[in-house]
Amino acid sequence: MWGPEGLDEVEAELLGPPEELKGRDVLELGAGAAQCSRWLAAQGARPVALDISHRQLQHALRIGGPFPLVCADAGALPFADGSFDLACSAYGALPFVAEPRLVLREVRRVLRPGGRLVFSVTHPIRWAFPDEPGPEGLSVSASYFDRTPYVEQDEDGRAVYVEHHRTIGDRVRDVVASGFRLVDLVEPQWPAWNTSEWGGWSPLRGNLIPGTAIFVCVRD
Ligand SMILES: C[S@@+](CC[C@H](N)C(=O)[O-])C[C@H]1O[C@@H](n2cnc3c(N)ncnc32)[C@H](O)[C@@H]1O
Repeated sequence: MWGPEGLDEVEAELLGPPEELKGRDVLELGAGAAQCSRWLAAQGARPVALDISHRQLQHALRIGGPFPLVCADAGALPFADGSFDLACSAYGALPFVAEPRLVLREVRRVLRPGGRLVFSVTHPIRWAFPDEPGPEGLSVSASYFDRTPYVEQDEDGRAVYVEHHRTIGDRVRDVVASGFRLVDLVEPQWPAWNTSEWGGWSPLRGNLIPGTAIFVCVRD
């Protein structure tokens, strides 16, 4: 699943035709509980699920799956050059790092020539709107151009959640400057069947502004 709209890989085929996933080495970045790796393994691929959070990987371990789990920072990948055919990430790692080019360069390094990276992030336009599912989420309240990160702190002032904003142009430049060719930028439309409302996500907003941006990149 690429994002809250509900676009899944069966429908999107952004990693290529499902029958060609068999036997492919795939790196999942910011895997969380490794839902994507579990689906990839079911297609016959050989995924590796990576996340910086030990706790998230404990959930992945509890649910189970025939693939390795790796606890590491996406900006310092513990793999040899050219280890993977594909890399993917659904809202993993990239929205949460201050220097996304470090991650992208690392992914390029571990991909084989011709390898593909597909990653989804919150659509940058959402930064300008309040994170509300109702009408209050439809009026611009912040500058799209303000890159000051969103930070939540605990009572001791430690950052417990940080999200970094990049404009669409920033993301395109990050991809290209890191040695990838951008072959598609998918903005899934909110489908009629999806009636769920949670956090800042809802059919009301989804029908008016995009929520997810999916970058399809090739390492030439
Ligand atoms: C919004 S969750 C997405 C999880 C999963 N991909 C999914 O679709 O449910 C973001 C994940 O990225 C991970 N993450 C954040 N920064 C990271 C980093 N620098 N390196 C690796 N993983 C990171 C978090 O621990 C979290 O599990």
